[in-house]
Amino acid sequence: MAASYVLLLLAALLALASSPSMARDPGALQDLCVADNTSNVFVNGFVCKDPKLVQAEDFFFSGLDQPRNTTNKVGSNVTLLNANRIPGLNTLGISMARVDYAPFGLNPPHIHPRATEIQTVLEGSLYVGFVTSNPDNRLVTKVLRKGDVFVFPQGLIHFQFNYGTNKAVALSGLSSQNPGVITIANSVFGSKPAISDDILAKALGVDKKIDLKLHAAPYMAASYVLLLLAALLALASSPSMARDPGALQDLCVADNTSNVFVNGFVCKDPKLVQAEDFFFSGLDQPRNTTNKVGSNVTLLNANRIPGLNTLGISMARVDYAPFGLNPPHIHPRATEIQTVLEGSLYVGFVTSNPDNRLVTKVLRKGDVFVFPQGLIHFQFNYGTNKAVALSGLSSQNPGLITIANSVFGSKPAISDDILAKALGVDKKIVDRIQAHF
Ligand SMILES: *[C@@H]1O[C@H](CO)[C@@H](O)[C@H](O)[C@H]1NC(C)=O
Ligand SMILES: *[C@@H]1O[C@H](CO)[C@@H](O)[C@H](O)[C@H]1NC(C)=O
Ligand SMILES: *[C@@H]1O[C@H](CO)[C@@H](O)[C@H](O)[C@H]1NC(C)=O
Ligand SMILES: *[C@@H]1O[C@H](CO)[C@@H](O)[C@H](O)[C@H]1NC(C)=O
Ligand SMILES: *[C@@H]1O[C@H](CO)[C@@H](O)[C@H](O)[C@H]1NC(C)=O
Ligand SMILES: *[C@@H]1O[C@H](CO)[C@@H](O)[C@H](O)[C@H]1NC(C)=O
Repeated sequence: MAASYVLLLLAALLALASSPSMARDPGALQDLCVADNTSNVFVNGFVCKDPKLVQAEDFFFSGLDQPRNTTNKVGSNVTLLNANRIPGLNTLGISMARVDYAPFGLNPPHIHPRATEIQTVLEGSLYVGFVTSNPDNRLVTKVLRKGDVFVFPQGLIHFQFNYGTNKAVALSGLSSQNPGVITIANSVFGSKPAISDDILAKALGVDKKIDLKLHAAPYMAASYVLLLLAALLALASSPSMARDPGALQDLCVADNTSNVFVNGFVCKDPKLVQAEDFFFSGLDQPRNTTNKVGSNVTLLNANRIPGLNTLGISMARVDYAPFGLNPPHIHPRATEIQTVLEGSLYVGFVTSNPDNRLVTKVLRKGDVFVFPQGLIHFQFNYGTNKAVALSGLSSQNPGLITIANSVFGSKPAISDDILAKALGVDKKIVDRIQAHF
């Protein structure tokens, strides 16, 4: 039933072949620009509120773990957390969505004009696909099960269908603060005013008549965090931040056999592109957190999912042992939007000079938090149970600068004279810390 519906709509759209103008979010010009919803000035995105009034709440959302009502025509319900819902996302180029699917529920064919989507299945299974643009219009499909991950490239028509008799739930990262949605059926057949039936009939080649937070404070880790933060803030070296370049074509699947060096990866022959290039399996599996920090990050970047090359997004699962810490680090090329799947976390980020403000929040299951591009941030599992979080990151290769490692464990080491001076401490203290790395 739904398959024929999907195909009908795809056929309709491919025939129309109108490619909306695609754009990438502009790069941020400052740490934060939290949307001020009281302003009546129109700008690209939103006017920023006074930085002094910025709160952790501006980067926060709660309840993403709650199932949504899917009793509607299509049997699916999308909860999109864009810059309208999380004002802190303004200028940061990323958003997150939860999609609930009833049995046989469909997220009908649609386009996000400004975003690539990376999706993982939390429950159930889905039949998903996207269609490349003219002239190939190739439909690339895949069946996804719990823990599978799939990429829908920017601006391409795509859909998800729950072909099973159980409900399904998926979580997506999208590479824009406001991805936009063009639902093919609605925009083709339900526009206001309507597209003339003459035009549609002609485009479709059919007759006009055919209708269509923190009480048990994490003292221990907090002091560790603060030590590292102090060290870093004193150093105050801001790495150069960049945004991924925009894609110049539908797809550029990384060719890992090429020995040509380019920005990102050389593309493989488009004819050899397969659904597997956009796919990863097993993100539902817990990772081993028996290590020094008690956390384990599984990052799906363009090295792991070759189809992500040129698409400006990636996804990560983070497992935290009880009292596990994802230590203070920076992603030089990405904003991160994270939701807690299990347990609870004490998280925070620090704004750049001269304020160096630490913004923190306790997150519970279903809570969502934003870590702005290039800012030092961390997550700490202050509980006695394990925790699991899932993140979207606005780069195919976000990069990772772990503060402790890069400051005290660089190879060769940063001279202890320099570090002692930067930190305002005795060289012997620096030597002791360096000995740990
Ligand atoms: C602006 O955001 C605040 C806090 O998120 C909300 O309470 C308020 O209703 C919003 N106002 C408008 C005009 O959207
Ligand atoms: C999605 O679910 C929410 C909460 O369950 C409900 O208020 C909303 O109407 C639903 N949207 C659609 C399109 O069914
Ligand atoms: C879901 O939405 C339908 C249609 O709006 C409504 O009849 C039903 O009561 C809702 N179910 C729940 C659990 O809120
Ligand atoms: C390239 O990717 C393929 C498929 O993902 C993998 O089997 C192969 O080991 C990779 N080769 C290199 C040189 O990384
Ligand atoms: C993360 O977990 C995987 C699989 O459980 C394991 O192979 C890997 O060594 C772990 N990494 C760290 C840093 O502990
Ligand atoms: C987790 O990693 C530790 C250290 O590498 C190892 O001793 C332990 O057997 C691993 N646990 C599992 C379940 O693989």
